[in-house]
Amino acid sequence: MIKSRTKIVDLLKMQAGIPVMVKGWVRTKRGNKNITFIALNDGSTIHNVQIVCDMNLFTEDMLRGATTGACLRVSGQLVPSPGAEQAVEIKAEEIEIYGTADPAVYPLQKKGHSMEFLREIAHLRPRTNTFGCVLRIRHAMAYAIHKYFNDKGFVYLHTPIITASDCEGAGAMFQVTTLDLNNPPKEKDGSVDYTQDFFGRQTSLTVSGQLEGELGAMALGEIYTFGPTFRAENSNTPRHLAEFWMIEPEMAFYDINDNMDLAEDFIKYLVRYALEHCASDLQFLNNMIDKSLIERLESVCNIDFVRLTYTKGIEILTNSGHQFEYPVYWGVDLQSEHERYLVEKHFKRPVILTDYPKEIKAFYMKENRDGKTVRAMDILFPKIGEIIGGSQREENLDILVRKMKEMHVSEENLDWYLDTRRFGTGPHSGFGLGFERLLLFITGMTNIRDVIPFPRTPKSADF
Ligand code: 4AD
Ligand code: MG
Repeated sequence: MIKSRTKIVDLLKMQAGIPVMVKGWVRTKRGNKNITFIALNDGSTIHNVQIVCDMNLFTEDMLRGATTGACLRVSGQLVPSPGAEQAVEIKAEEIEIYGTADPAVYPLQKKGHSMEFLREIAHLRPRTNTFGCVLRIRHAMAYAIHKYFNDKGFVYLHTPIITASDCEGAGAMFQVTTLDLNNPPKEKDGSVDYTQDFFGRQTSLTVSGQLEGELGAMALGEIYTFGPTFRAENSNTPRHLAEFWMIEPEMAFYDINDNMDLAEDFIKYLVRYALEHCASDLQFLNNMIDKSLIERLESVCNIDFVRLTYTKGIEILTNSGHQFEYPVYWGVDLQSEHERYLVEKHFKRPVILTDYPKEIKAFYMKENRDGKTVRAMDILFPKIGEIIGGSQREENLDILVRKMKEMHVSEENLDWYLDTRRFGTGPHSGFGLGFERLLLFITGMTNIRDVIPFPRTPKSADF
């Protein structure tokens, strides 16, 4: 009897005529009194292996527990399959049931389930075909991101998760404290005395690794971060998470055009990587979730993104004659309906919007000579809206300090950050790619809660 397990992804490529052993979870069981067919999946691929049980060798009793969801070890011979669906199948000789899954209570039966229902059982949904595909693609994309930057000589910089600074200045931070919330120590004026807190000051979960990333770039040249980020904004939309992963490259000596070139090349590389390395998972999602998925992915690899100033974008929107829910005027922070109009209706391709009004962008963005706009760049994608946000950074100490004053950003808190401008400052740029927004695009899934294993959103932190 063969002792080592073969993964199904490898087994399906092997030649028939050898003994094999597989382990996995039952997807379906069917048959009659002469023969039983079990479709087994082990997560290594979207494809199942068919297990054929000759009922002269097995009793019904022996297979009773091998229902949908049960965990099995199967040993037998790899033989040619007469079925059209697969080249090989396993003629079972021995089956061990590691764990049963009582059909009366196991929630994942053969019928299709709604995404909403599957979110309620996020601890079991990785065992469905769709989530198997999404999670394998998520892994492949994480790997491709590291490969892309490694091949280009970028250094992976680990920025802190607990921080005392609000990078985006939006105030949407989750506080981290060990103080007793029922009885916190107080100052004379009644405010909380954070000097008695764990870090001796008020701290939060980071909204971005950028500020520390800039320090890295101004020493190592080109760096990237890739980690979890947290936003306590009460946004209940299909594109917002309270905990999401972000990739933030930061490059010394890049201006905004170099920054856009890198961002466009990076996204195209990732899409191409998915097409080349996740073909069977993408094919499944194309069949089951979104019939134009693969076509859309291929088209993005082959077209130039539109590059357009915010001011020109506003002109297009106001001249469109389209009735928007939110009014359009110069200075407005674009809503996703505006972004999607530009991308899906007007240009029909990804758009990089640049030079936004300074009032609606973060303090660190480099001011243009007009004194009104900053060298920001947002990349807008079909069906998603903003997938990347970035900018050239303000490297001039005096201008940066003036902007911080204007925008009420604490200089005292960010004194360490200002040292990059005090000592050996220079032009630099960077951007942030929302990992789950990228995955929405690549998988064709429509809700961001379905491209992360355990989503965190307002009023929801289960599992
Ligand atoms: O535009 P944002 O807020 O930019 C930054 O945080 C900069 N510090 C990035 C930089 O220049 N280094 O966020 C960047 C990207 C967005 O374009 C979006 O894709 C994603 O992060 N993102 C979210 N994804 C999911 N849920 C949320 N609540 C998100 N907020 C931002
Ligand atoms: Mg943004």
